[in-house]
Amino acid sequence: MEWWKDAVIYQIYPRSFKDSTGNGFGDLRGVIEKLDYLESLGVDGLWLSPIFESPQKDNGYDISDYRKIDPRFGTNEDMYELIEKAHAKGMKIIMDLVANHSSDQHRWFQESKKSKDNPYRDYYIWKDAQADGSPPNNWGSIFSGGAWEWDETTEQYYLHYFLKEQPDLNWENPKLREEIYDLMRFWMAKGVDGWRMDVIGAISKDQSFPAYDSDEQYVVGENHSNGPRLHEFIQEMNREVLAPFNAMTVGEGNGSDIESAKLFTDPERNELNMIFTFTHMGVDERPTAQLGKWGMKPFDLVELKADLALWQTALNERFWNTLYFENHDQARVVSRWGNDTTYHHQSATAFATVLHGLKGTPFVYQGEEIGMVNSSFPIEDYDDVEIHNAYKDLVQERQLLSEADFMAAVETKGRDNARTPMQWDATANAGFTTGTPWLKVNPRFEEINVEKAVADKGSIFHYYQKLIALRHNEELFRTGEFELTNSEDPRLFTYTRTLGDEQLIIVANMSAENYQPLPLLSTEKATGELLISNYADTPAIDVISVLRPYEAAIYKVK
Ligand code: NOJ
Repeated sequence: MEWWKDAVIYQIYPRSFKDSTGNGFGDLRGVIEKLDYLESLGVDGLWLSPIFESPQKDNGYDISDYRKIDPRFGTNEDMYELIEKAHAKGMKIIMDLVANHSSDQHRWFQESKKSKDNPYRDYYIWKDAQADGSPPNNWGSIFSGGAWEWDETTEQYYLHYFLKEQPDLNWENPKLREEIYDLMRFWMAKGVDGWRMDVIGAISKDQSFPAYDSDEQYVVGENHSNGPRLHEFIQEMNREVLAPFNAMTVGEGNGSDIESAKLFTDPERNELNMIFTFTHMGVDERPTAQLGKWGMKPFDLVELKADLALWQTALNERFWNTLYFENHDQARVVSRWGNDTTYHHQSATAFATVLHGLKGTPFVYQGEEIGMVNSSFPIEDYDDVEIHNAYKDLVQERQLLSEADFMAAVETKGRDNARTPMQWDATANAGFTTGTPWLKVNPRFEEINVEKAVADKGSIFHYYQKLIALRHNEELFRTGEFELTNSEDPRLFTYTRTLGDEQLIIVANMSAENYQPLPLLSTEKATGELLISNYADTPAIDVISVLRPYEAAIYKVK
């Protein structure tokens, strides 16, 4: 029933995964081609970022037909074949539900903007201008600027939390909600096993549309998520479609704190299985009203440990966590927080160890399992609309960041770091395409690629394979109670997972220097089994006295 509690899910960003046609754009036949590879990694499910028909203004997170596969990715038949072939290998398929907004090219919006009395008018959020013609309030777009767009024809503003080509859907309208449930039924009837839900925390809007109290022209803040009817809507969705199909669900919990996460994931409330939370990914951020995510500070391990520990403890009973460092919106962790040069292998595997040892469902993002790294491109080589909008706003127009500071932030955490094509081998374009890739390949593909990693038994790939197998074979990963140790240590990441008289001890030196002497790892100095480590000769727990740079291990003691 709760298969996802023992599972590791692999996220595919289809446009960057594998191109089977030579048009420079990844597609579903490319995914089908690589199913054997995914099976050999051992993952239990595949989450595909959106592949529905879309003008691709935000890489598919702007959908114009929810029931049709975008021709760039293939056909509906390709998708049905992928579902069947993944199932034959025991892998579940999770699709991306983008239901906070649609594309402005969706038929609903095309109708909605025709007239104020169009039957689809109320599928979106339309408001009159204020007396002086200005937008209804000072809500900002997450992709820079304001969240309201003026429409000349009907002389009203419509709301868009993201691009103006991504108008927000009006969940107050029961007809709209039924449309969403119905498209979910459509895909579930085809065999889809679950949903990742894009910005699901944003679907309910406070109908008084309260302005933020701020001197800034545009603000993105607490009014953008956790609206008054959010959980009512999710419970309705659960009744209508999730429960009948026994769907696995993971919501993108933007703006979620512990209390709202509990509301989403308490099994007794019948909402979602788990949510992606964001606070741990903010440990290198100094967000300000003006700079948003582009305000940076150095990575702080103590903060990361404290944040992860907080969620581990808070969602322990009944609830369930997601575990991730990477996805299509985040950078490569080995570059962002680790060491992608001298200790590339060691730091990639150390971050994997401390994440996969936690309680929750781990998500591996394509390329993470071979230690793919961040890129450094000139601004014109980036594709991401978020990067370009922020560059225009922060560097060119308001001049709040120097070009150098902005580019440094982009190279650390810009979304395109995760979106460069998957590196399959050392041939042209890393074997991703025979054509011209839609986004440049990372220049380190000859050194970091799947073919090489699979051939090398000591590679990051084989480490992930082993970590994933451990999840399946060792129950303590699901059941063990979490306890953080050495919490204030800025270099050491250690914790235990305990159930009865059995315990996992997770240890990692998250620095590039030897860590010596080691604090006592096991209270009883028990002998334990070394389940996994990222150095070939890591000593047993009762004799280990030093951790080498980024050395990480998991012991089981009794
Ligand atoms: C979150 C998605 O992960 C991101 O890629 C997208 O741009 C926004 N939601 C808008 O859909």
